[in-house]
Amino acid sequence: MKSQDTELVVIVVSARKGGVGKSTIAAHTSVFAGSATVLIDADDQDTEGSSATWMQARAAKFPMFYSYSDYKQYGIDRLLEKAKADGAEVVVIDTPPKADASITELMRRATVNVVVTEPSFLPLSALPRSLEIARAAGKPTIVVLNKIKTQRLETEQTRAALAELGMPVVELSDLADFGRALAIGQAVHEFNAKSKASEQIGVLWREIQKVIQ
Ligand SMILES: Nc1ncnc2c1ncn2[C@@H]1O[C@H](COP(=O)(O)OP(=O)(O)OP(=O)(O)O)[C@@H](O)[C@H]1O
Ligand SMILES: [Mg+2]
Repeated sequence: MKSQDTELVVIVVSARKGGVGKSTIAAHTSVFAGSATVLIDADDQDTEGSSATWMQARAAKFPMFYSYSDYKQYGIDRLLEKAKADGAEVVVIDTPPKADASITELMRRATVNVVVTEPSFLPLSALPRSLEIARAAGKPTIVVLNKIKTQRLETEQTRAALAELGMPVVELSDLADFGRALAIGQAVHEFNAKSKASEQIGVLWREIQKVIQ
């Protein structure tokens, strides 16, 4: 994808709110990014309920993976150096549900920040803080509106609010394929390439590519 002396591409997936789909999106992004990719689990849920859980189920030899204990031990700067030394061109970082100094530190190192929310009250009320630190980080930001259920008034209201942000917004529907694919260590386009989930996550990857290429 890139020549050796160019910078690492760093994709940070975050949200202050829990359960909105950070690990799902980080895992998918790491598969799209290809074999020269490291997925870093910066979430202290570690092996229970984070991208580490997906990696444990995954048979494919990529992405490379650095666990939460690697992240704690080395810190982000040394871990990014290690990624380069290991031949990575892209690093995808899965984060805990926070918008604190540790997330700010990661967002500052991002080539692109992906901030995830859902069209419901609590996730949306947590979004401004995540976007505030994304703006302060000064890097391109993509918002993912995840788990959209059809024909909900909240979805229309959320769309209208997000349209005001002046940031790209990618929508992902609430689709069982996401969970099913992850449960067996796959991405949805590996699990069922012709599915709606596969089509939608492809749109997100193309939006990320516009920024990183
Ligand atoms: N678009 C979607 N459609 C249906 N289910 C989804 C979708 N995105 C995520 N999920 C499901 O929602 C749950 C939470 O997703 P995930 O673990 O990725 O969120 P998270 O933000 O990483 O959570 P945490 O804050 O606990 O780390 C999982 O069961 C996942 O399969
Ligand atoms: Mg997670």
